[in-house]
Amino acid sequence: MHDTVLSNETRTVVSPGRIELGVGAVDTVGDHAARYGDTALVVATEQIFEFHGDTVVDRLDAAGVEAVVYTDVRPDPTVENIEAAHDLYERNDCDLIVTLGGGSSIDTGKGVGILAANDGSIRDFGVDRAGYEGVPNPSPPLIAVNTTAGTGSEATRSVVVSDESTSTKFLIVSANVVPDVAIEDPELTVSLPKSHTAFTGIDALTHAIEAYVSVKSYSVPDGYAEQAMERIARSLPVAWANGDNLDARADVMVGQLQAGQAFTNASVALVHGLARPLGAQLHIPHGLANGLILPYVVDFSSMAAPEKYAEIARILGVADAHTPTREAADAAAEGVLRLCRDVDLTGYLDDFGEVPSRDDYLSVVDEMTQDAIDSGSPDNNPRKPTRDEIADLYTTIYDDALAPDSPRRS
Ligand SMILES: [Fe+2]
Repeated sequence: MHDTVLSNETRTVVSPGRIELGVGAVDTVGDHAARYGDTALVVATEQIFEFHGDTVVDRLDAAGVEAVVYTDVRPDPTVENIEAAHDLYERNDCDLIVTLGGGSSIDTGKGVGILAANDGSIRDFGVDRAGYEGVPNPSPPLIAVNTTAGTGSEATRSVVVSDESTSTKFLIVSANVVPDVAIEDPELTVSLPKSHTAFTGIDALTHAIEAYVSVKSYSVPDGYAEQAMERIARSLPVAWANGDNLDARADVMVGQLQAGQAFTNASVALVHGLARPLGAQLHIPHGLANGLILPYVVDFSSMAAPEKYAEIARILGVADAHTPTREAADAAAEGVLRLCRDVDLTGYLDDFGEVPSRDDYLSVVDEMTQDAIDSGSPDNNPRKPTRDEIADLYTTIYDDALAPDSPRRS
């Protein structure tokens, strides 16, 4: 007997309309675009456009689709990015959106789609103002050509936007923004440097683990999450060590897609709740923030969902079928730590972070704790933390993983 809620409750499972997978998948972008219209807004960061822009524009051109190009997307895309790209979309009478890149490009494209189909400014659609599913009309067709292996945004109903006027990020969640086509071509991820292979891979692992243990999880996202963890555990270290290994790149790419499908149909939880404020304080990439936090949250939470964490430990190779459940659950954090060590995650702090002194860090713990609580994500955790427990977790993270002489950095 499988444990499922579906016999007495219905769920909406969201998914991209079509998924093109494999080496050469990018070649399909023109034909897909031509099904939807004749003028496409192409959204990318400048750097990604330099790598892959010609490939996409040539395929669109060959299919008779004109490309209008916006390449000012920032790593954490802003309200201004979305407004400027939307302006270009309207001025050129575009009828579809093609994003090229990872989460930043995809989220900008989703934002353009929201403004193209709805009245109001992008800030109005944040979950803090409009609630979940607060985007009334479906976006125009959106094709996401993915070039990273992490956010899974090509499969999700989430948009994360930076509001520079308040130095905060806000979240939009609606099934009306899920892309129509997701293009997953592992050859496009070969250009991803080792640092970002580690960050995006650990972000994807975090999505899978958080979706799996979330109080909102059920059979369908559980299946995606288990497969995602398996693929990431076996192939992320290989893809990190040898970025040209296409088999490993492809396995991680499918894993991060499944992780996206898992969390958009369940939710993220305490790790993402803690990671947004920590990332904002330390100015570190999202996946690095997740990887710094993940082992401690797994350790904190495992007693509340021992069977789930025991399965995580088995998938990560630190327990087997004969290990008793509680013993296996207790080992899960070690499995996560090992995977982070395999890709030298904390080794990137010197180049990608600004670690404050312990006193300076402790002086912002209260503020980070409040932000984490306000995000709502901790409520999805199997063990609901108190305010003091969140503050304690932040302190542990500093002493164990952030301080220059801490155990994880020496
Ligand atoms: Fe994430």
